[in-house]
Amino acid sequence: MSRNDSSFDVNLRRWDEAAPIHAASEFYGVAEFKAGKDKLGAIESEEIGDIAGKRLVHLQCHFGLDTLSLARRGAVATGYDFSPQAIAIARGLAAETGIAATFVEGNVYDAPAKLPRAGFDIAYVTVGAINWLPDIRGWAKVVETLLAPGGFLYLLEGHPAANMLEQKRLEDPITPTYNYFQGAEPLVFEGAETYTEDGKTLANTVTHEWIHSLASVIGGLLEAGLRLEWFHEHARLPWRLFPSMVRAEDGMYDMPPGASNLPLLFSLKARKPT
Ligand SMILES: C[S@@+](CC[C@H](N)C(=O)[O-])C[C@H]1O[C@@H](n2cnc3c(N)ncnc32)[C@H](O)[C@@H]1O
Repeated sequence: MSRNDSSFDVNLRRWDEAAPIHAASEFYGVAEFKAGKDKLGAIESEEIGDIAGKRLVHLQCHFGLDTLSLARRGAVATGYDFSPQAIAIARGLAAETGIAATFVEGNVYDAPAKLPRAGFDIAYVTVGAINWLPDIRGWAKVVETLLAPGGFLYLLEGHPAANMLEQKRLEDPITPTYNYFQGAEPLVFEGAETYTEDGKTLANTVTHEWIHSLASVIGGLLEAGLRLEWFHEHARLPWRLFPSMVRAEDGMYDMPPGASNLPLLFSLKARKPT
């Protein structure tokens, strides 16, 4: 498996710093969550189906808001993330709300050594996860290893066809900027602000990311032995990818009126054969 330890170090510093800022942000709405509000987005809410009683691993769970929402829906949930800060906040939230969930710290690629192999009915991975991973085929093997026979992966992610586009400022056009077929080298981004749009700036400004083509994601899952059950594309996003996007009442972001719609998210369900 190809590993890129310096990229992991760079990204971990950023995520450790971002976790408490995100947990305090209006964007994530922790207070609403504590008051009982379900924090799953509309798309994953509808697509995930009945999870009551299922052993679920939430890979790259951040500070656990979705993991705990899934546990509230009856899943036997384990959140997994490499950020000690995020995991500490997640454990604190679980204790404070009395929601039963387990949180384990570790790199995605080390998950088979830290979590029960074949121990989960559902692997749950959503928005802003696989772009941090250099080796998508290695990730697919990790997912396969964690799933019990008959278990499935639910993946909702930023669409690579959108991630290769950029709009620098509101008045600029949206233009193809990055390679769709990226290769091993990370894209190096620099930016002090985080997507929660609360004006907070971070000291760790650099991130290393990868655009994974749809063929590499689906191909990787098929090569790992999973079977694709369905694949969807969506024209909305839960964050502002382009400055001209418009925030809707439900908190999702749409392209502005009159603009072409674009594939902004994709989702899929892939099952490990019994
Ligand atoms: C945008 S957040 C994911 C948010 C997620 N959709 C949720 O449910 O809250 C990305 C997360 O990936 C984690 N992460 C990034 N690279 C990782 C890696 N190699 N192994 C484990 N976690 C990683 C970060 O710490 C961060 O919490």
